[in-house]
Amino acid sequence: MDDAMSEELYQAIFSRRSVRKYEQGGLDAAALKQVTDFAASTRPLFPGIRTETRLMGPDDVNGIFKVAAPHYLAIYSENRPGFEANAGFLLQQADLFLSSIGLGSCWQGGPKPVRGMRRLSGLDFVIMLAFGRPAEPAHRERAEFKRRALSEISSLTSEPEILEATRLAPSGMNNQSWYFTGGEGTVHAYAARSIMTEEMNRINVGIALAHMWLAAGHEGRRADFTLDEGAGGSAPRGYSYVATLRLGPKGA
Ligand SMILES: Cc1cc2nc3c(=O)[nH]c(=O)nc-3n(C[C@H](O)[C@H](O)[C@H](O)COP(=O)(O)O)c2cc1C
Repeated sequence: MDDAMSEELYQAIFSRRSVRKYEQGGLDAAALKQVTDFAASTRPLFPGIRTETRLMGPDDVNGIFKVAAPHYLAIYSENRPGFEANAGFLLQQADLFLSSIGLGSCWQGGPKPVRGMRRLSGLDFVIMLAFGRPAEPAHRERAEFKRRALSEISSLTSEPEILEATRLAPSGMNNQSWYFTGGEGTVHAYAARSIMTEEMNRINVGIALAHMWLAAGHEGRRADFTLDEGAGGSAPRGYSYVATLRLGPKGA
């Protein structure tokens, strides 16, 4: 993905919203190709994990909280440590892309592909986005985001611009199940532990990390994700470690 595209995605952070009403007619083949080409160009959080995305129609998907849309973009993954956050990181780039070209999208945590489509080339289904032409506003004003204050999701005093873009990330049931610690140039990301929503909470953190990476790029900073053994041991109470972001200096 080039810098111009990542800047487009960064700008979409401040106006995107979930769309749950779609026009009946599907997108034409050229528009769908634009979406699948984009999905093939997304950057992974953990490049060692094999994933694949698959375009689906309404008959391929069922389950609770299903948003009726003409199209769905599902992600499948190898089951390796970090796969949930990696899937969230990849598909959030598609969510922002769809918003940036005026289409609507909505993450789908409840629905699943129908039986027989839950595995693909040896990979397991993780999560999907509904998308299509919106029949309700696909954008909102910045003041309309309902999110927790930065002080509730982070102990960091540095990197305010990057954390602000992160704070606005969407999450399942808007639970904002993330916490960030660290210092100048380092951000450790944690997911709230849960019996019911552990996997979704880790997907949510991947989504937030996608916003963090795009914000770093906007600031002209290099962003590398690593796993830091030390940070794993010092997780805040009730949270488990996901990943660490190392930020380069401005303009380097
Ligand atoms: C992992 C994940 C799963 C979600 N699952 C659903 C879902 O099954 N049905 C739905 O209507 N919305 C779903 N959402 C959308 C959230 O409810 C929405 O992102 C959140 O309330 C914030 O609102 P916004 O996206 O308009 O900013 C999901 C979001 C995420 C990130």
